Amino acid sequence: MTAPVCVSAPAKINLHLEVLGLRSDGFHELAMVMQSIDLADELRCENTADGSITLTCDQPGLSCGDDNLIIRAAQLLRARSGFGELGARLHLSKRIPIGAGLAGGSSDGAAALVALNRLWGLGQSQAQLEALAADLGSDMPFCVAGGTQLCFGRGEQLEPLPPARQPLGVLLVKNPAVSVSTPWAYGECRKSRSDRYLKGEEAFEQRRQLLRAAEWLHPLQASTPPPLRNDLQEVVAPQTPSVRKALDILDPLPGRLRVAMSGSGPSCFALFADRALADQAKHQVEAALAAEGLKSWSCSLLPHGVKLAS
Ligand code: C5P
Repeated sequence: MTAPVCVSAPAKINLHLEVLGLRSDGFHELAMVMQSIDLADELRCENTADGSITLTCDQPGLSCGDDNLIIRAAQLLRARSGFGELGARLHLSKRIPIGAGLAGGSSDGAAALVALNRLWGLGQSQAQLEALAADLGSDMPFCVAGGTQLCFGRGEQLEPLPPARQPLGVLLVKNPAVSVSTPWAYGECRKSRSDRYLKGEEAFEQRRQLLRAAEWLHPLQASTPPPLRNDLQEVVAPQTPSVRKALDILDPLPGRLRVAMSGSGPSCFALFADRALADQAKHQVEAALAAEGLKSWSCSLLPHGVKLAS
């Protein structure tokens, strides 16, 4: 029996989310910049002798069945390994809010791939794990790799960017009782924006080139803060009061560089020049946020994704 394996599974925020157009497979063609942050779940796993794969979680209400990306990732990794007798007992300590646009579920699935690759001694490379991850969800390859990345295609085509030059701080806000369905958000986007969608690979590639060359990305720093464009915010905010409330409270904060929604929402965040400023801002608005049912987290940027605990 090998020793248990423990991994951290960080959340991400979107520093850019541009919906370019529709693809023939029904997904949206995206141009994004994703950034790992130090709000992380923890996944622990150990071998089982009977070939079963089971999951427990410290958060009641989160499904631990076949619909959980951890179980799906474990089953896919085992099936592709050809060793059908492998088993694992997994336990998730949940810190990332659920249904938030922070890729919490995707990062947990990515964590299962990394942890079980080690536990089962499969020797898959990071590139192989990223390819496997892409079969499970659009955000999952990013969660394996993490850091600061351009993400194209449906989100799975990664181009790494240099890490931030300054230790930017993030104040993250979400109503724990509100979640947004990603398919719903993209469906709404299609309804209201498809007349503005770009058509064809040539037009997509022109936008990608513009983003690759964006001054604010080389590297991230407080003096040229990311514009924080998120095309889904335009369709989600008008229909989600907690998003509007979060943006209203974050926007006037002293020292904030930019404010936006992350992913398909409803979590929103403000960027600060450093972590201490984000901590201060949290302190300042915690009561106002709580009065609106909003919870807050002060975070730093991370230069990596899922990581084996030392
Ligand atoms: O791949 P993932 O499971 O994250 O996607 C969830 C849903 O979000 C998809 O079924 C699709 O409706 C929508 N989506 C999309 N275009 C993307 C990513 C997701 O339309 N690039």
